[in-house]
Amino acid sequence: MAAIKIKSSEEIAKIREACFAAGSVLVSIGREIKEGMTTGELDKIGERLIREQGAAPVFIGYRGYRHATCISVNDEVVHGIPGGRILKKGDIVSVDIGTRKQGYCGDTAATFTVGEASKKATKLIRACKTALEAGIKQARGGNHLGDISAAIEKTARKHGYSVVRDLFGHGIGKDLHEDPLIPNFGNPGEGPELKPGMVFAIEPMFNLGGWRLKTLDDGWTVVTEDGSLSAHFEHTILITNGDPEILTLKGS
Ligand code: MF3
Ligand code: CO
Ligand code: CO
Repeated sequence: MAAIKIKSSEEIAKIREACFAAGSVLVSIGREIKEGMTTGELDKIGERLIREQGAAPVFIGYRGYRHATCISVNDEVVHGIPGGRILKKGDIVSVDIGTRKQGYCGDTAATFTVGEASKKATKLIRACKTALEAGIKQARGGNHLGDISAAIEKTARKHGYSVVRDLFGHGIGKDLHEDPLIPNFGNPGEGPELKPGMVFAIEPMFNLGGWRLKTLDDGWTVVTEDGSLSAHFEHTILITNGDPEILTLKGS
């Protein structure tokens, strides 16, 4: 595996801006989600918000992807293509936002509900968010990559959900996806040592049923094989000597 890049303070300043933009857009778009609107409409709002932040939507053109956001509803895990699907009350909607600013990327995601969702959906979402927080807590200089992975997996087990095994978090910087891959399962102490200046997108995906996935014929949309609900949360973080800096954390 290629070496994990240590970003310079100049690079970190730019990544911070890209991430601030992504975090701001995610919060704003969450407030725009309403029953009756289409995922395509939501994507257009997301694209406008990204540009208003002075950022570019980094997903457009990424491996031929054509939209600013990924919007994944209910059993869709990630990479849902925005379009004519109408959001219904009780749906759960994962929105993934990617930005590029001054050549550097930010990546963040969250699962929202359309109005109120079922209790089991709400619990799944809450557990996945807790897992992201637990993973971030382990993202400290001197720890190992496996500490992050293990904390996420442990949270899934504790709450009785399955954790997606085929999709990973990742390093991020000039490119949306850099080394290392960050599995959402693993053992404490394993993997490379974390060093200040590393920047990671940590992104647990939890399923209500089994962990297995399939990809739809559109070539992008990843769904649970058993049709069960899935949640996804993602932050881009900076490893430091102390607590990690959550670069995409922003209220607006
Ligand atoms: N944001 C996704 C991730 O978290 C990647 C989306 S790639 C796209 O890694 F092409 F679908 F946009
Ligand atoms: Co993402
Ligand atoms: Co990502």
